[in-house]
Amino acid sequence: MKLVLASQNPGKLKELKILLGHLPIELALAPKDFDPEETGDTYLANAEIKAREAARMTGELSVSDDSGIEVEALGWGPGVRSARYCEGSDLDRRHKMLLEMENVPDEKRNARYVCALVLADKDKVIYSTEAYWQGKLIREELGEHGFGYDPIFMPNDCTMTSAQITPEEKNQKSHRAKAFNELAQFLSSKYKSESRI
Ligand code: IMP
Repeated sequence: MKLVLASQNPGKLKELKILLGHLPIELALAPKDFDPEETGDTYLANAEIKAREAARMTGELSVSDDSGIEVEALGWGPGVRSARYCEGSDLDRRHKMLLEMENVPDEKRNARYVCALVLADKDKVIYSTEAYWQGKLIREELGEHGFGYDPIFMPNDCTMTSAQITPEEKNQKSHRAKAFNELAQFLSSKYKSESRI
């Protein structure tokens, strides 16, 4: 069975190969000219736009994820706008968030990563799920791994930030890992029972 990852990002493909590696699935990235506009108001809507477009372009089963960070004290924002929270780099966005959170007390610093995932063929959505990684925003940057908001996010199930834990540990605990593990279970039970893989 072939599965197209609706993305141009080889790092994401590598991650997916680890998460779905135990299944007999041939994974590939979307074609070079894949560039749909993410106009949805929700993670699921954006993931659906990308998965359907990749399926339309390739004729193959396609999967897409869309993610972001939600902070209670920021009205559960920036959410779907996490990558566009402000102009500039990930570092600029972390600085802006730390500044906006400066006067927020420890007990009000709840945050969570969210990952929505959609599996589609060219006609319809076959499966979708949403997964969370709960934690808190700390007051300084700690750690060198990861990307985005990782140096300021302390998951509840860790004693270090998501940029301090190893990529392997993040791949076991993260919102994305949970969503893709759910997909792996779905694919495994659905397609095994239909003898398609
Ligand atoms: P996308 O799913 O690639 O569109 O990610 C949206 C944005 O959410 C990223 O650019 C990051 O700012 C943030 N984000 C999502 N997942 C993570 C994560 O695991 N660590 C840090 N930031 C993340």
